[in-house]
Amino acid sequence: MKTVVITGATRGLGRALATEFARREYRVFGTTRKAGDARDLEADFGPPHRFHAVDSTDPAGLAKLAEEVGSFGPIDLVIANAGVINTRKPAWVIPRDVWELNLGVNLQGMINTIQAFLPAMIEADHGTFVGMSSGWGRAPSRGLGPYCASKFAVEGLIGCLVLDLAEAGSAVTAVALDPGGGVNTDMLADCLPEEHGGFRSAEDWVPGAVRYIETALVRDRVQGSQEVPESAHDGGPE
Ligand SMILES: NC(=O)c1ccc[n+]([C@@H]2O[C@H](COP(=O)([O-])OP(=O)(O)OC[C@H]3O[C@@H](n4cnc5c(N)ncnc54)[C@H](OP(=O)(O)O)[C@@H]3O)[C@@H](O)[C@H]2O)c1
Repeated sequence: MKTVVITGATRGLGRALATEFARREYRVFGTTRKAGDARDLEADFGPPHRFHAVDSTDPAGLAKLAEEVGSFGPIDLVIANAGVINTRKPAWVIPRDVWELNLGVNLQGMINTIQAFLPAMIEADHGTFVGMSSGWGRAPSRGLGPYCASKFAVEGLIGCLVLDLAEAGSAVTAVALDPGGGVNTDMLADCLPEEHGGFRSAEDWVPGAVRYIETALVRDRVQGSQEVPESAHDGGPE
């Protein structure tokens, strides 16, 4: 049985990914921020899946989780998905705590996830690390300074990670993944309040996204800045 770790698994893309990977007979380890959500998800998913309340801003919590996951054998896939976005406002009026939250979860949280899981993956010489990026990590958008700054940084971080892994001669691969085209989650509703209903749902997005992750990223070992292509949603044979 393959193992996937997904941070931020309570809702949106993370929840959809957890559901789809469980359907494909992966053992899912998901994170939440609240213990109650972790208990609810464990009850919904049942064994062998596990959900832990580990905030992505907590490096010690992630390290403990990595130890537990590693006790089940080599880790196949880590998806650093947990993320937040800011309410659109000009950069010069956005309060410091909003900058800190976006950089803390989206960037430092990703660094924490890399530092928790990569050492064992490198030791096993196996696995794929996917950092959830965004189109707004490659092009700016009005009023989204904190979010864009954090996701642009994720792109640079994962680009360096790819080079570091190559230099170390490791078989582990790393990807900054743009989910592609927008998916109608709570996050999209926050930043596109008028338009989010016109985008595909997480349930419609996830079969194509997981097919793409399994084929292009895991099997074909494509690395660096990538995007779930529209063609992934064409619904070809499994
Ligand atoms: N939706 C899109 O179109 C889109 C486009 C580009 C990129 N993305 C990226 O895809 C990822 C998922 O986005 P989404 O649309 O699914 O967002 P979402 O619906 O708002 O869900 C965000 C998830 O992250 C969790 N989370 C937030 N802060 C956390 C923390 N400190 N520690 C652990 N978990 C935390 C949330 O948990 P709680 O329920 O506890 O808050 C929730 O499970 C994000 O990285 C986002 O930037 C999404």
